[in-house]
Amino acid sequence: MVEHNGANGSETFRGLPRLGEPAPDFEAITTHGMLRLSDFKGSWLILFSHPADFTPVCTTEFVGFSEINSELNKKGVQLLGLSIDSVYSHIAWTRNIEEKLGVKVPFPVIADINREVAMKYGMIMPGESRTETSRCVFFIDPESKLRAMIYYPLTTGRNMQEIIRVVDALQATDKFQVATPANWKPGEKVIVGAPNTSSMAEQRMKDKSLEVVEWYLSKKAL
Ligand code: BEZ
Repeated sequence: MVEHNGANGSETFRGLPRLGEPAPDFEAITTHGMLRLSDFKGSWLILFSHPADFTPVCTTEFVGFSEINSELNKKGVQLLGLSIDSVYSHIAWTRNIEEKLGVKVPFPVIADINREVAMKYGMIMPGESRTETSRCVFFIDPESKLRAMIYYPLTTGRNMQEIIRVVDALQATDKFQVATPANWKPGEKVIVGAPNTSSMAEQRMKDKSLEVVEWYLSKKAL
């Protein structure tokens, strides 16, 4: 991973993690005790960061993540939050969310006060803030490989349905060796790999088992 100094030279910023490579390892203090990446091996993990506890957009997101938690669990996915706040702050904030908004936060939240995990995952965008993590989402598969990333700025709350949709797409890809088209949702047709020889392209145009839009664009129902 590339490392270079920040603009003021006082801090080491690392490059972003890469898709298709092992997710950066970590061991961290959380609201559910010490957790390591290896604790999640064998299930999907969504590691997400928020800028700060007790802030309005983050509070709406924590309600959103809490509301999709059981749906994600049914798909074999665990949620793990993170910010550069203390574990006491996380406990106070999640208790406040339950008391004031009636939503219990069921997932652990990393207290990354020394920024170790944030730096490994490229969660700090100095152009936005040096003291807060941006709104990042990392989709990590059961083999601990990083499969997708979403980065949103401080001011834009994330779309929970899109997070579920990405999980569904990744799991469909793994199960059926297919790709998924724009705006795909479960139940819709998927993309079949394009032929890579002229004769296969000719055959593809005659394949009645597929919806052949063009030789390089074909769909099928799962
Ligand atoms: C918020 O959650 O409302 C927020 C946090 C940091 C910067 C901007 C907004």
